[in-house]
This record gives sequence, structure tokens and C-alpha cells, in this order.
Amino acid sequence: MARDIKIVGVVGLGTMGAGIVEVFAKAGLQVVAVDGTPELADRGRGFLTRSLDRAVSRGKLEAATRDEIVGRVTFADQLTRLSGADLVIEAVPERMEIKNDIFATLDGIIAEDAILASNTSSLSLTEIAAHTRHPSRVIGMHFFNPAPVLALVEVITTLFTDDELSGAIRSLAERLGKQPVVVSDRAGFVANALLITYLARAIRTYETGHVSREDLDNAGKLGIGLPMGPLTLCDLIGLDVIKEVCDVLYNATHDPAAAPPALLTQMVIAGRLGRKTGRGFYTYEKSGSGVVT
Ligand code: 3HC
Repeated sequence: MARDIKIVGVVGLGTMGAGIVEVFAKAGLQVVAVDGTPELADRGRGFLTRSLDRAVSRGKLEAATRDEIVGRVTFADQLTRLSGADLVIEAVPERMEIKNDIFATLDGIIAEDAILASNTSSLSLTEIAAHTRHPSRVIGMHFFNPAPVLALVEVITTLFTDDELSGAIRSLAERLGKQPVVVSDRAGFVANALLITYLARAIRTYETGHVSREDLDNAGKLGIGLPMGPLTLCDLIGLDVIKEVCDVLYNATHDPAAAPPALLTQMVIAGRLGRKTGRGFYTYEKSGSGVVT
């Protein structure tokens, strides 16, 4: 299983997938970035180039380095393009049937000793692995949003995972400049189990109406010392993602702190998912992340 990782496939080029592509390409690996249609693959290319252009315009990256990074990435709309990958990391929406379909297809495409990783933030890695032909090569590699900036990668192991594989993924995370933490497959893993109950409590606090969203955020940011206030962070992560993690955590633990607040559920139904839809607890400019109100 100790395969040298040179070519990485990324499936799903939304916010997380595109960020993961950027992380691997910046670390010098070849990346094949795949989404389901040419339009979605183009959207992924747009996320990558905009992020790198921003770094160039802030004087953080040379234009020539940006071009080298982009040159390491091939965008595609067919999973068959991943046949030469040493590792494929999946970052598609959090629906078990979609992930199972993709992993079953990848089983027939990639080499027998290539690694299958998932960036799932809420689903059971054990269940994902159990649906594949070789469960021992399946592992969680959970990045944090924004993936190019946040240093943590959770390496999630299952009963099927051998030590050599978790060691290889830990080393890979270090090669990416990240800090890996190894955790076995439990609802919320480690970071989300801590964070999501805090965010759910923040939403419940806001729901009571005794504090404004700005003051609540300032309390989290300036009083607790976190980089952003909890409602701003909810908008960054996506309220749909938060609700999914709440559901999984609550179902597994029955901890009332993890139960999805009514306001969260209603906002998800109303399509107010945060930055990605232009409206969550705050309203955002269409083009970027700037807050309008
Ligand atoms: N992509 C790439 N780089 C980005 C970026 C993005 N989306 N957003 C910000 N950056 C870079 C900026 O270019 C800047 O880089 P520089 O220092 O080299 O110039 C740096 O990050 C800081 O950005 P800003 O100066 O614009 O803004 P801030 O200092 O406020 O930082 C932040 C922004 C990095 C988002 C910071 O506020 C932060 O860390 N917030 C907390 C985010 C967090 O907790 N994420 C975890 C969510 S949980 C999760 O993802 C798990 C999931 O399963 C739910």
C-alpha cells in the first residue's frame, strides 16, 4: 500500500474541492480535477484562478509561480480521467448514495493499490468503505474551509484501515504543509464535534432575540478570540453543511446541544445557505465574499 503519491485526483470542485486542488497543486503534485459537467469543471477552474490571482494582486505570489501551479492541474468532466491517479480525494455533496456511486465507479478505474480518500465532514467513513471493493484502501482526509489557509487535516480511519495507509496519509498532509490529526470514525470526528455544538448554540442564542447578530459575532471574535464570529463562520461553512453535521451528531449522541436549531432548519429550507447563495445570516455581494448587510 506504500505507493508513492505523485498524481492526485479530486472529484467535486465546489468550495472545498477547489480549495483542495489548490493545496495539492501548490505543494507540487500533479492534479486531475473532475466534476460532473464541463460547466462545473470550468467553475472549478474559475475558483482556482481567482484564488491565485487574488494572491498575486496582494503581492503574496509571483505571477510565474501562479502559472506553474495552474499548469499542474488538468480539469475534466469524466471520472475515467483519474485512471493514473495514486490517490483520489472525493469532495462531492454529502449524500451517501452519490459518494457510493462515485467510489464504486472509481473502484473500476484506478489501480488496485491506489488510495481512495473522502473529504466528508459528516458521513460515516466506515459505511463509505464498506460499499467499496477494497475497503482497506479507503480513508478520510478532512480539510477545513478555506482549505488553502487552515492548517488542520483530520485523517479518519475505520476498522478496515491499516496503519501503513494512515501513516502514508499523515505524511502526505505534512508534505502539504498541514497538521494531521488521526481520529477513528465517530460522528463529527474531532473538530466538528467541538465546533458544531458551539455554532448551534450561537444560532439558538441569536434566535432568542436578546442580542444582535453583530454583537453576537463580536462576542465570539473579540471575547473568545476566534478568527471570526459564529454567525459569520456559519455563513462561510454553509448552513446546509452545519445542519447535516448537527443531524449526524444528534442522531449518534442525542446530545441536545447538537440538535439543529429551528432557525437553522428554516434557513436551509429557504435556501439561505450563507456566502455560497449570497444570503445567510448576512447578505453578500454576488461576485465575492464582501458583506452587503
Ligand atoms: N482561499 C484562499 N485563501 C484565502 C481564502 C480562500 N477562500 N480566504 C482567505 N484567504 C487568505 C487570504 O488571501 C489571506 O492570505 P495572506 O495572509 O497570505 O494575505 C489570509 O487567508 C487571511 O485572509 P484575510 O486577510 O482576507 O481575512 P482574515 O484574516 O479575516 O482571514 C479566514 C480569513 C482565513 C477565513 C479567517 O477568518 C479564519 O480562519 N476564519 C475561521 C475559519 C474556520 O474556522 N474554518 C473552519 C470551518 S469548519 C470546516 O470547514 C469543517 C467542515 O466540515 C464544516
